[in-house]
Amino acid sequence: MTSTAPKLPPLPVLRALDRVRDLLGGLYRRLVPGHIALLELQIAGFLSQAISAAADLGIADELDAGPRTASQLARALDVDEEGLRRLMRLLVSYQVFGQRRDGAYTLTRMGTALRSDAEVTLRDVARFFGSPFHRSHWSHLSDAVRTGEAVGPAIDGASFFEYAATHREIGDLFDRAMSSVGTLSIEPLLAAYDFGRFDALVDVGGGQGNLLAEILRRHPAAHGTVFDLPGVVDDLTAELAEAGLAARCTVESGSFFEEVPAGADAYLLKHIVHDWSDERAEQILRTVRRAMAPSATLLLIELVLPEHDRPHPGKFIDLEMLVNTDGGHERTETQFRDLLARSGFTLTRTVPTAAPDCVLEAVAH
Ligand SMILES: C[S@@+](CC[C@H](N)C(=O)[O-])C[C@H]1O[C@@H](n2cnc3c(N)ncnc32)[C@H](O)[C@@H]1O
Repeated sequence: MTSTAPKLPPLPVLRALDRVRDLLGGLYRRLVPGHIALLELQIAGFLSQAISAAADLGIADELDAGPRTASQLARALDVDEEGLRRLMRLLVSYQVFGQRRDGAYTLTRMGTALRSDAEVTLRDVARFFGSPFHRSHWSHLSDAVRTGEAVGPAIDGASFFEYAATHREIGDLFDRAMSSVGTLSIEPLLAAYDFGRFDALVDVGGGQGNLLAEILRRHPAAHGTVFDLPGVVDDLTAELAEAGLAARCTVESGSFFEEVPAGADAYLLKHIVHDWSDERAEQILRTVRRAMAPSATLLLIELVLPEHDRPHPGKFIDLEMLVNTDGGHERTETQFRDLLARSGFTLTRTVPTAAPDCVLEAVAH
């Protein structure tokens, strides 16, 4: 079980920082010649891949033991020294790693997040996004835009979750990456929403169970169930036992298109609805509604697309949904309200958090 994220600054401070970044970035892109601004955005993809290469090679883990010169690092990682210097030159210029006056490379705040055992590790996220599997899908973004359909079936012969179920090296990497991304938002979610008012919770499509595990750790009277596909939760019971939660957290497997565990006070669906078309999302929500007691609460945890035209993580992930899911997409608050209403729920409130996620609270009507 991974632990929670370090504390973030308060929400208003983060929002102010976002605005300053957007303002300065927007001003810069308006002032420099258009082709320069565009080229810079285009080659930012190289930087993303360089971070993935650093994650693949395990550079942060090696630097965790202390500063290393290029030759020490190259020897330890068994890579070409000149290739490594070139990779590090780019990454040092963006503070992913540091470099001392004597040339030795060091870990920075960002580089620390690439360590395998960092409190919030993004190593597997970087490896998944940079993997040939994921990159090859994104190379077909224009096809996805042309057809409005995921590219996976044409490339892999299966939808993403079907492929991940039979190719566990990709499935495991994806599960670990999702679990790390999930860890990022746990602390902000717990700070923004009182999960302690529920006695029994079901984490539907709960993956590695990190959110539920942390809720249970903080609220010793609560108990819960992680529900996900069979292959995904096979080892989870042992992990929960190791985390001391065996008595209060059960694991059940199945499909949320058919049935989910009944009778809990709260049903959490974190980053589930965005994977699916409105039609399929409605099916999932109706399955959950059938399992819920009338007084139970539904909690969707999702990126809520803002109406403004400034950058927002949801706008990136929305394209990820276009490329890799069968009709999945991010939604505005109005779209969530409509989807919930069609599925038999009333949206009671939308709670923002210091992470990009919001908690959308709903009750059955
Ligand atoms: C984007 S991940 C989110 C995982 C977790 N809630 C989190 O936030 O870290 C989507 C999850 O839905 C699960 N899933 C996909 N299809 C499912 C199905 N038919 N029934 C149950 N779970 C499913 C996947 O295995 C995966 O764990």
